Amino acid sequence: MAKKKMGPRHFMYPQPAIIAGTNVDGKPNFMTVAWTGVMQHSPALIYISIRRERYTRAGIEANGTFSVNIPSTRQVVETDYVGINSGHKVDKSKVFNTFYGSLETAPMIEECPVNMECKLIKAIDFEGTHIVFVGEVVETFVSEECLTDGAPDVEKIDPLIFSTEGRYWGIGRMVAKAFNVGKGYENKDGDK
Ligand SMILES: Cc1cc2nc3c(=O)[nH]c(=O)nc-3n(C[C@H](O)[C@H](O)[C@H](O)COP(=O)(O)O)c2cc1C
Repeated sequence: MAKKKMGPRHFMYPQPAIIAGTNVDGKPNFMTVAWTGVMQHSPALIYISIRRERYTRAGIEANGTFSVNIPSTRQVVETDYVGINSGHKVDKSKVFNTFYGSLETAPMIEECPVNMECKLIKAIDFEGTHIVFVGEVVETFVSEECLTDGAPDVEKIDPLIFSTEGRYWGIGRMVAKAFNVGKGYENKDGDK
């Protein structure tokens, strides 16, 4: 198969579009983050990677807390808005209805179906463009209407997806059951 070299790029498909929440000078501020992910299960560690000049950074460093909110496709306009406007210039505290958990300084978004309240564990500074903030999830909230049999239901959550060329998507069709479909693997010679 012919391949074209694209240079050292990170085409990681797909990426989530999450909204990080912080308190800056006592007011909620929200920013969109695509560079985010899971680090380990227990304790539950997640990270967000943000440019050093973000207004959000001041809130994380001052309080040692932040939130990660999963918007659904229904919040696409607000998600994009907080991703193209900085708290350095505009007050984003009223874009969403907010609530707080036990950490008291990590504002979470009522409209987003999933919210993770995080305590800052480590800031990793590669002295490049971004700083990676690692948070321990101290509590996770899921909107009741997005549960099926008590568990989060991805179809009801309808999470917003981002692709690197600058488009938002919804999730697509289910392809197969994970940790399961591979059991039916047959190699090219037909042996199991
Ligand atoms: C879809 C999308 C994804 C983004 N992902 C990131 C990201 O991963 N890291 C980052 O530093 N900025 C990212 N941004 C840009 C910030 O959200 C944007 O600069 C925002 O205005 C920063 O807000 P603040 O200055 O109030 O913290 C993204 C923006 C959009 C629209």
